[in-house]
Amino acid sequence: MADLKVAVIGCGGHAQSHFRMIADEPRLRLVGIAELDEERRQKNQTEWGPERAFADYREMLDVCQPDVVHVVTMPGHLLPIVLDCLERGLHTSVEKAPGMTAAETAQMAEAAQQSEGKALVSFNRRYFPQVLAVRQRIRAAGGAVHCAATYNKPVTLLGPAAPDPVICDAIHHVDLLRWLAGRSAEAAAIPVEVQGMVQDGERSGCHRHNAVVRFDTGTFGTMMSHYGVGYRIQRAEVHGEDLSVYLDMTRGPRVEGYDKGEPFTVEDEEIEAMGGVGFNEVVHFVDCILEDRTPWSHLDDAVHTMRLCEAVRRGHQGLL
Ligand SMILES: NC(=O)c1ccc[n+]([C@@H]2O[C@H](COP(=O)([O-])OP(=O)(O)OC[C@H]3O[C@@H](n4cnc5c(N)ncnc54)[C@H](O)[C@@H]3O)[C@@H](O)[C@H]2O)c1
Repeated sequence: MADLKVAVIGCGGHAQSHFRMIADEPRLRLVGIAELDEERRQKNQTEWGPERAFADYREMLDVCQPDVVHVVTMPGHLLPIVLDCLERGLHTSVEKAPGMTAAETAQMAEAAQQSEGKALVSFNRRYFPQVLAVRQRIRAAGGAVHCAATYNKPVTLLGPAAPDPVICDAIHHVDLLRWLAGRSAEAAAIPVEVQGMVQDGERSGCHRHNAVVRFDTGTFGTMMSHYGVGYRIQRAEVHGEDLSVYLDMTRGPRVEGYDKGEPFTVEDEEIEAMGGVGFNEVVHFVDCILEDRTPWSHLDDAVHTMRLCEAVRRGHQGLL
C-alpha cells in the first residue's frame, strides 16, 4: 500500500533513473508527470504509467495533488519550479546541480526553511550503500585524515541551461569529498579553505581543476577534475589512522580497502546494515518524510557544496 503520492517534473534522460527508483519504492505511487516535450511526455506515460500526464507542471500539481515532487529539469530551469513546489508545501527532490549558482541554491534553501515540505538534493553518491559502509569504517577509525576525488571526462558541453561542468557534473565528487570528511553519520564536512589552480585547455569545454580543501573537521581533501581528457573516470579515496579505502565509481562502486595493511572489501552484511543494495536517495527521502527527519543532503547543506564547486572552478586561494 503506497503511503505517498509522487510526481515528476521534467522527463528527459536522467528522469529515467528517478522513475526506476520510484517504481522500486512501494511506499510511493506515481500520480503525475509534467513534460513540455509532447513526444517525451507520451513515451514516459506509456513506459512508467503515471495516472496523469501534463505539459504544464502547475496544472499537474493542481490536479494530481502529489505529496512529493521530483524536479528533474536542467539546472537553469529548476529555480522557479522548486520555489513553486516548496511554496505549495510539497516535499521536493531537487536534481543536481541545485540551480545555476550557489546564490540560487541559497534562495531554494530559504524557501525550504519557510515550507512545510522537506527538500533533498539528489547527490546520489552519498546514498550508495558501499559509500555509507566505507564512511562507517572510517568513522569507527576516528574519522578521515585525508580524502581525494578524481572526476574526469572527455570534452563536455552542457549548454546554456547548465553551469560549468565542475559545478553541474563533477559536483558529485566535490560533494563526495565533503561526505567522506564528514563528522557524523548524518553530516558532511564544511569547507573552510581552498587552494585551487585552474588551467583550462584551448578547446571549449576543456576545463581543468586541481584543488586542496581544508574542512572544519580538520580533514584535508584534494579534488582533481579535468574535462577534455581521455575517458570518463570517477574515483575517490579516504584515509584514516591505519586505514585506507579506494573507491572506483566509474561503473558501479568497487571498494579496495586496507586495515593495518590487511586488504578488505565491503562485506554483504555491511551493505545490509546500510539499508541493502536497493538503498538510495529516494528510499532515504521517503524515510525522512514518514519519520519527520531532515534529509542528509538538504538544501542548506547543498549551498556548501555549490560554494565549494564555484571555488574549485575559479581557482580560489584562501579562506572561504
Ligand atoms: N545524478 C546523475 O548522475 C545525473 C546524470 C545525468 C543528469 N543529471 C541531472 O539531471 C537533470 C536533467 O538532465 P537530463 O539529462 O535528464 O536533461 P534533459 O534535457 O534530457 O531533460 C530535462 C527535461 O526537462 C523538461 N523541462 C524543462 N522545463 C520544464 C518545465 N517547466 N515543465 C516540464 N518539463 C520541463 C525538458 O523538456 C526536458 O525533457 C540535470 O540537472 C542534470 O544535471 C544527473
